[in-house]
Amino acid sequence: MCGITAFRGPSAATRAHEALARLEYRGYDSAGIAARRSDGTAVHVRTLSGVAALVMGLERDPDATTAAIGHTRWATHGGVSERNAHPLEDCGGRLYVVHNGIIENADVLRERLRSAGHRLATDVDTEVVVHLLEEAVSVGLDLGRALADTAALMEGSWAVVVLDTRTGALAGTAHGSPLILADTGDGVYLASDVGAVAPFVSAFRVLEDDDVVDIDAEGTRWHRAGGSRRPRGLWPVPAISLLASSGRHTDHMGNEIDEQPIVARRVLDALSPGIRDGALWNRLGLPPLENVDRVAVLGCGTSLHAGRALAGVFARAGHLPTRALTASEAGHEVWEPRTLVVAMSQSGETADVLRALDGLPSGHATVLALTNNTASSLARRADAVIDCLAGPEIGVAATKTFVAQVLTGACVALSGLWSSPRADAATLEADFTALAGTPDALSGALHAWRDRAAELAGDLVTASGFLFLGRGAGLVYAAEGALKLKELSYRWAEPHAAGELKHGPLALVDAGTPVFVVDDGDPRLDVDIAEVQARAGRVIRVGERSLRVGGLELQLPRRGPSWGPLESVIPLQLFARELALRLERNVDKPRNLAKSVTVA
Ligand code: F6R
Repeated sequence: MCGITAFRGPSAATRAHEALARLEYRGYDSAGIAARRSDGTAVHVRTLSGVAALVMGLERDPDATTAAIGHTRWATHGGVSERNAHPLEDCGGRLYVVHNGIIENADVLRERLRSAGHRLATDVDTEVVVHLLEEAVSVGLDLGRALADTAALMEGSWAVVVLDTRTGALAGTAHGSPLILADTGDGVYLASDVGAVAPFVSAFRVLEDDDVVDIDAEGTRWHRAGGSRRPRGLWPVPAISLLASSGRHTDHMGNEIDEQPIVARRVLDALSPGIRDGALWNRLGLPPLENVDRVAVLGCGTSLHAGRALAGVFARAGHLPTRALTASEAGHEVWEPRTLVVAMSQSGETADVLRALDGLPSGHATVLALTNNTASSLARRADAVIDCLAGPEIGVAATKTFVAQVLTGACVALSGLWSSPRADAATLEADFTALAGTPDALSGALHAWRDRAAELAGDLVTASGFLFLGRGAGLVYAAEGALKLKELSYRWAEPHAAGELKHGPLALVDAGTPVFVVDDGDPRLDVDIAEVQARAGRVIRVGERSLRVGGLELQLPRRGPSWGPLESVIPLQLFARELALRLERNVDKPRNLAKSVTVA
């Protein structure tokens, strides 16, 4: 989604640009930088061609700059164009602004500014911010004060950084959107995500809602809402010991799919020793499950699917009342006391998830964050944090983080349940054994489906729509397969509980309609499949628990683990990617999507 970077200090444009490149993979449709040169002039570059292309536009020596702001934009208000790209400038070309979030009262402010004589040149809500700042600065306010007064007129959510190219000062503020500050010793960064500056600093501070910082020749000043001038506390930058996936594919997604058995092994090596003695649960400081009456798992998109699989562990193995909530709808929930909330988010910055947590009545719930980013807003907000250890995932479509979230969640849940009197001991044992077999099951699925998925994609390249069916623990994998397919191929894909087929979706099935069936061993699926075949639909069955050895088909035990047939996600990911490649889609950056969704 949108990304902000800023630097005040030597080689400012180069430093802001480097940091911006580290956010680029999250998805953007334009990028821009504004900087103050050492000679007091301004440089302003915007492009639709990627962060690297900004270098050309920075013209003369980008190192001869003393303050700079940068932005990658994911359009919400106003179409994708250079004109609408950030940084946006005021009427006089003195102030430049970058913004993440949404200014909900932009229309009213825009009218007011127009009647006051401002020239608004874009369709972007952010533009009102820079003109309001222009008014405030023109009456003599310093940049920090001007930003605080401007923010007081705004409604919505924002992280905003402003550059005054006349003085080289920067100021930033945040409200419902992340912004961090990090001092390097020779300069100061602002960024919307610590990942932007992780290699360059060891600690950072987080702006809380309505804090304002200003940074100029005299140093950095912090202004908290309420008058305190005390800077916020320091957070360590987590060590990034894991590298991005690499391999034989030119796209990240292909390598991330292939890496899943390794990720699974890593998670299990780290966490499974703490299951049988409950040490993993206790280390997280979570309440004993006797003191928990219910579990609510929440998330969005693929993380919500991983959450549904995890909910299955608490329910099937633990007999705990459990629900999985779409984070953007959690505002309608009635929360009961003694609830354990597991918030799932690979980025840890998903605004819908953060907003759902804001809606929790205080004292009612313990929040466990399950994330791939332990320095994220979610991690900072939760009572306990578990790292899902997937390593950097660059492809916008989540793959290895899904597998890592399911397994991490399963380990944590089993650890908590191990000593719980309500849990089913035989199921716990079976689940524990199944965990150990997961890396091999994932490898096996990769091996079995790599060529088959490619062939199938060739056959189905003209299909306009797909159905994905499952039952019980398999249903969530059908949903994940459909999500991957639509994200990557831009084709319609509908997941359904297989039992619902006859209640409506069967009308979609015609000769050749592709219907993926996630087989978790439920015998009733045979009837569902027969219904599709009777209409000449094309059934593709995945997740069958059988193994071909020396030409013989061996049936594996039919009962799968509580989290369902995890390896069935592999053929679905492979197929989605193969189909997308045939359709010449960019599998790492699907259209209209972003890696970190910071607007609610
Ligand atoms: C799907 C995908 C999205 C994310 C969703 C939540 O491939 O990537 O559906 O899963 O936007 O993101 P996080 O996990 O960062 O909260």
